[in-house]
Amino acid sequence: MVNLTINGKAVQAAEGSTILEAARGAGIYIPTLCYDEAVEVYGACGLCVVEAEGIPKLLRSCSAKVSEGMNINTESERVVQSRKVAMELLMSAHDGDCVAPCQLNCPARTDCQGYVGLIANGEYESALKLIKNKIPLPASIGRVCPHPCEKACRRKNVEEPINIAQLKAFAADMDLKAESYVPDVKPATGKKIAIIGGGPAGLTAAYYLAQLGHSVTVYDMMEKMGGMLRYGIPQYRLPKEVLDKEIAIIEKTGVKLLNNKKLGVDFTIKSLKEENDAVIVAVGAWKSSSMRTKGEELEGVYGGIDFLRSVIKGNPFEIGEKVAICGGGNTAMDACRTAVRLGAKEVYVVYRRTRNEMPADELEINEAEEEGVVYKFLTNPLSFNGENGKVSSITLQIMELGEPDASGRRRPVPVEGKTEEIAVDSVILAIGQKLVQEDVQELELNERGNITADPDFFTTSIEGVFAIGDATNRGASIAIEAIGEADRCVKAVDAYLNGIDVETRIPYISKRDESTIDYSDREKKSRLTPKVLAPEVRNKSFDEVSLGFTEEEAKEEANRCLECGCREYYKCKLLNVAQRYDINPERFKGEMPQKYSRDENAFIERNTSKCILCGLCVRSCREVMDIHAIGLMGRGFKTDVSPAFALPLDQTKCNNCGLCVQLCPTGSLTEKFNLPKQVPLDEQYSEEFVEIDGKKSSVLVSRYNGKVLRVIPNDEISRNSGMTREELMWLFEGND
Ligand code: SF4
Ligand code: SF4
Ligand code: SF4
Ligand code: FES
Repeated sequence: MVNLTINGKAVQAAEGSTILEAARGAGIYIPTLCYDEAVEVYGACGLCVVEAEGIPKLLRSCSAKVSEGMNINTESERVVQSRKVAMELLMSAHDGDCVAPCQLNCPARTDCQGYVGLIANGEYESALKLIKNKIPLPASIGRVCPHPCEKACRRKNVEEPINIAQLKAFAADMDLKAESYVPDVKPATGKKIAIIGGGPAGLTAAYYLAQLGHSVTVYDMMEKMGGMLRYGIPQYRLPKEVLDKEIAIIEKTGVKLLNNKKLGVDFTIKSLKEENDAVIVAVGAWKSSSMRTKGEELEGVYGGIDFLRSVIKGNPFEIGEKVAICGGGNTAMDACRTAVRLGAKEVYVVYRRTRNEMPADELEINEAEEEGVVYKFLTNPLSFNGENGKVSSITLQIMELGEPDASGRRRPVPVEGKTEEIAVDSVILAIGQKLVQEDVQELELNERGNITADPDFFTTSIEGVFAIGDATNRGASIAIEAIGEADRCVKAVDAYLNGIDVETRIPYISKRDESTIDYSDREKKSRLTPKVLAPEVRNKSFDEVSLGFTEEEAKEEANRCLECGCREYYKCKLLNVAQRYDINPERFKGEMPQKYSRDENAFIERNTSKCILCGLCVRSCREVMDIHAIGLMGRGFKTDVSPAFALPLDQTKCNNCGLCVQLCPTGSLTEKFNLPKQVPLDEQYSEEFVEIDGKKSSVLVSRYNGKVLRVIPNDEISRNSGMTREELMWLFEGND
């Protein structure tokens, strides 16, 4: 035996063993990417370097042998720097999206590609569970979310983005129609948390905290839970029966919901803090913003959310026949379409820019127009004019578009001396909403008048009191922002209750350069949208406008997904190693060659743009299987892994044993799974045994929500059995 020291620890290793073997034997981690015990050492990736005392050069531990008295450091500054550079070089030549852009652009980081793919495969229950990992109210959010995910969807570069939001609503509706999924709850922790506000933020925090075993009570000032989803969104867009059902599921996780409880009247933040281990303030923004326009105080001038709330509560404000709505966002659309449904004959939307700059959802803008709403673009209220204290007309300043402002939209500027007057019975100001500051006097507010909350930890000026959502920092935003914040806040609160730190570092992921992606081979297929009620029917009723996707439509739409995110994301060794180092591959951008070739057969998919030329596939095919189906082709920067003469795998001697896929440390080689649409899923792998020709043989079985997705040969017997994946799969599907 050889005696050596690794990271200060005395280690013994067999004569002739490598430093890597010695370290692994002693439980010391050294990253490797081109090494596997099954094949000869190659020494290509440079990740396994270590520093040996007295030796000037760093050693590759996968090939350097141990010697008596060696003193090794596997984590010295020099070693870390060297690995970092090696990793940056590998990553700069690696062209792949670890995570799909749709997911990255969702403020709650919902796995859009995952659930869209599962819907395409008809796996609706799995899709719903995946969504509910991030959104507890998907049927509601699917109906109302302005879907930032779709803005980033790559399918727009072919023709139109995937209808991700409606697919979410479809999966959630399927669940609500059946026996709804209620997640498991961990054993009780004995910790109590009070949440003030039962809107999307408060309910989300409650749902995930309850699942962690905490005792959660939500206090809300209104008669029913739901916050702005209930009191700010009209029935025709989000039927409250849908919201009620989703809230009932949250309640089933053990959350206590208390209504008609008002902060400052029934309790204070401090009184709740005394009775609980933590308090989350999620009170929202319930005050309509003012336009500071002359005549705003006149009777008949209403705030947008006040108006919507009055209708939802069944006591609509008096609006008369001629109504003007000021604003261009979704609240303005909700207000104008509600006014139409209340019987107003002339409904105007006054907006100071043009249709192209309107922040409202395009569908809403179009549907409102179909219902008879008239847009007054490039106009801005100069004054609201009244008779006997009641509004009777608006003087509008005519505008034109000037240079772009900070938001990138062209700034509207007044056309001097040009005005217009329209007669109105009421005006609705839908230009934003604010926190009611009097409610939260106990907390420190920022210069905008919102609660100051730490952006990572959500802590406030009172220890143990956290704050999220519209009431904090930058103020009101869309519901999915509040939901994403609530999910992150749950982690912060749980860590606080357990006295541990929260990880705030954003782990590295690889992203493709959008401009280099070629979509020319994609067949154009229009986006599907659910059928809607006819304008002349819906403008008289508060019935839901959208009829939702049928199963066939949902599957067809979901099948348009381009599958942007990497299928190997959950088990990618390259990514795992990359995330250990603070890398910046951008600095080598353009210096490393990019390789593009794709090939697939029934079981294996090859994508050379993700290949790091570790050679494991080539060596395993040659040394272990003795098949030589693939090789390293070309030289230098032109080197590529491919079958001889760049033939498809199916035209080689490849027997689809899958060993190369198993050893590939990246998503360059992937084993397809047993569903028509391939989706990145957090599969659970287990080694299991089957009998092949009377012999016990090992296979790796991957399952997702109990369904067998892949069965991969895992020893000589199964690899050489000649059995197809279907035959192997059958052994399990028959048993499952
Ligand atoms: S192979 Fe790994 S690093 Fe590359 S895109 Fe896939 S998950 Fe990301
Ligand atoms: S095509 Fe699919 S995976 Fe790609 S961004 Fe769109 S929904 Fe996401
Ligand atoms: S395809 Fe082969 S050479 Fe490329 S990363 Fe995978 S195993 Fe390594
Ligand atoms: S060089 Fe040693 S593992 Fe790659």
